[in-house]
Amino acid sequence: MTESEAIERHERLVGSVNHHLYLYHVLSEPEITDAEYDELFDQLLALEAEHPALVTPDSPTQRVGAPPDHHFSEVHHARPMLSLDKCTEVSELQSWLNRNERLLDAEISEFVAEPKIDGIAVSMLYENGSLVRAATRGDGSTGEDITANVRTIRAVPLRLRGNDFPASVELRGEVYIPLQDFHEFNAAAIEAGEKPMVNPRNGAAGSLRQLNPEISAARPLTLFCYSLGSASDDFSPSTHAEAVDAMQSWGCRVNPRRRVLRGVSECESYVAETLEERTELAYEIDGVVLKVNDLSVQQELGDLSRRPRWAIAYKFPAEEATTTLRRVDFQVGRTGVLTPVARLEDVKVGGVTVSNATLHNLDEIARLDLRLNCRVVVRRAGDVIPQVVRKLEGGEAEIETPTHCPVCETPVERIEDQVALRCPAGLSCRAQLTESLIHFVSRTALDIGGLGSKTIEQLVDTGIVDSPADLFKLDVETLSELERMGEKSATNVVDALQHSKDTTFSRFIFALGVPGIGEVTASTLANRFQTLPALAAATQEELEALDDVGEILAENIRTFFANDRNLRVVNELVSLGVHWERIEQASEQPCEGQTWVLTGKLEVFARPKAKELLVELGAKVASSVSSNTDIVVAGPNAGSKLAKAKELGKPVWDEPKFIEFLRQQGVDVPQ
Ligand code: IVH
Repeated sequence: MTESEAIERHERLVGSVNHHLYLYHVLSEPEITDAEYDELFDQLLALEAEHPALVTPDSPTQRVGAPPDHHFSEVHHARPMLSLDKCTEVSELQSWLNRNERLLDAEISEFVAEPKIDGIAVSMLYENGSLVRAATRGDGSTGEDITANVRTIRAVPLRLRGNDFPASVELRGEVYIPLQDFHEFNAAAIEAGEKPMVNPRNGAAGSLRQLNPEISAARPLTLFCYSLGSASDDFSPSTHAEAVDAMQSWGCRVNPRRRVLRGVSECESYVAETLEERTELAYEIDGVVLKVNDLSVQQELGDLSRRPRWAIAYKFPAEEATTTLRRVDFQVGRTGVLTPVARLEDVKVGGVTVSNATLHNLDEIARLDLRLNCRVVVRRAGDVIPQVVRKLEGGEAEIETPTHCPVCETPVERIEDQVALRCPAGLSCRAQLTESLIHFVSRTALDIGGLGSKTIEQLVDTGIVDSPADLFKLDVETLSELERMGEKSATNVVDALQHSKDTTFSRFIFALGVPGIGEVTASTLANRFQTLPALAAATQEELEALDDVGEILAENIRTFFANDRNLRVVNELVSLGVHWERIEQASEQPCEGQTWVLTGKLEVFARPKAKELLVELGAKVASSVSSNTDIVVAGPNAGSKLAKAKELGKPVWDEPKFIEFLRQQGVDVPQ
């Protein structure tokens, strides 16, 4: 290869590697596989090894490589990096606007809104398109030089795309760790006996403050650029939105949720919408930032000492709070596993009062080193169950591990190979019976409406119901004697019971509550074995031959049907009239072997129904997107699953396309 050929090949490879980095890390729309990317990268490495003179600081091979440092040097910010004024109510937003309008003596009509990312602010200086320096905010006027660490973030271009950028431009943004990466990182850290990150924000801060850039490079950092610091005269956008669009055109990662809004009412709707979708986002946010769009108006309004007048943060309720752990109770689940539950001093988290939190298992208590009366951080994100995320200080006695079932007092057993304790009493333990019944009547099992958990508890406590079969012997008279149950509701329950007898084999299998059998496995078993006697007689080998059945699950199924009491209940259910149509093995199963994921709001067939239809067509319907996913159907408001599908390059169908497909398969679709 001649020198000029090498130069040309180097340029091509750098361009190509950068292009694929951009597709993957900035747009989340990769066009090649990881292996293909690695291949390109290796070619570039090999070429540079042969021609070291070709290596430039903005070659993608130079992201990691700066030697560990002893300290960070200081960076003086040309324009101070300010913090933000806050509000938590629309009236405060309105006063902020009124104040500004009075000051200007003019109306301010346009705003730019974006989620407020809970991460770490950074400033990045590009000269002639190359990243020359990155800094933390520090005290606002002086920050720390973290260039070596920021260079390891693959969503940060070392060189801006195209050639339409100013001679010098400073971009600002927020570095953060996406939630999924955070959880994966922590799971791996705990597995390896290392310290997990406290939360994504803390993890991002710690990663950026590593003196050894190799450590930062191993952390799943990314960023969103959200504003302009300083720029040379050859760049003079007139609005904030225009500036952010320019950053996007230079290959920087910007938030696709940013919007230009008019008036307070549009801001208010944006805030409400974002709050509602908060839990579906792939990253943590603590509110929305609203900025005046017109840059000349921004300039006219100017800054107060530590914050600009032209922007305000509309803060959301915090998802974490601290409180005191009063005691730990153990709850007995459907399969007898004891789950520790933290009883807490009441505390408001995410706008809701929390007094209990799950602790998952015994290991968690040890890992967090929980003690009675210690201070703890509790987290509640969206609708998920509150969790204890860490201990702060204090605490006295250790939490005792129970030796007996707290409900039926049978001595507990430790489950082999697991950290869990189990009450072996089965359905003769009131707690397990109650939980089994709650599962049995649930929407995706036999779908018996009107029987809430409180009613089921009463039925079990009074001894009226001793097995799922007893439910079908209930009459209006017995039911109406229960608390909070009038004659009307009792009649409804009896109707629902009657109605539920007409079910499907797969729902029936799921309802039995064999440990480890979810809806997907239940439908696999129903399709394979077709009848109850065939399923009950299935051998270990036959069961393990199925895709989603492993050794333990196969054993659970055999143990279940080997138990006399279980067999009696199953037969009694059938003799009380529970029945299903034998599934005709569809002559053609067009979705055989495919895994689908449904996400977002579907209108024509709501998700449970859509799922049933797909299963009938032979598909498996999974709840999360992975490399095994074949097709993702995404309705409006699809969140992280859609993002993941795009990231993995999976086909995404909208609802009309899905409906068209169902029609082609002969499914009766309502007009
Ligand atoms: S604009 C004058 N936009 O919030 C500051 N800031 O509490 C203008 N932040 O220091 C900042 N997401 O670190 C802006 N979309 C966003 C943001 C955002 C997070 C941070 C930023 C700032 C802090 C203020």
